[in-house]
Amino acid sequence: MPIVRYTNAAPPGAPSQEPVEIEVPVGTSLLDASKSAHVSHGSACGGVCACSTCHVYVTRGANLLSESEDDELDILDKAFDVRSTSRLGCQAKIERDGLVVIEISRESRDAYYNEHPDERRALEAAKREK
Ligand code: FES
Repeated sequence: MPIVRYTNAAPPGAPSQEPVEIEVPVGTSLLDASKSAHVSHGSACGGVCACSTCHVYVTRGANLLSESEDDELDILDKAFDVRSTSRLGCQAKIERDGLVVIEISRESRDAYYNEHPDERRALEAAKREK
């Protein structure tokens, strides 16, 4: 099965900064992989290509993913800090076996914690205890 590796699964300041990996079936979107791995990955529109809060950088294995379609590129035009490796996690589906390495964008991380205030408070408390 394909493997998705997150190089920044934990937010800055979190107690553990270890990379996270998860095996997922072919056909899984990067956003769904993140949900399965319990990674902090924003998805304000619920995965219907109507925001850019699921923005990630694919640093390896981009050739294993579905091609970007016009809708995705239109949304990425409005995202922050877009790079050549940028994808929307809800639109990029894994089509072939192999390793996909991704970095969650700051935009996505911030959106996640806005959507999950309890987790944000817990993270802030953990940072204070360090
Ligand atoms: S979750 Fe909104 S575009 Fe992906």
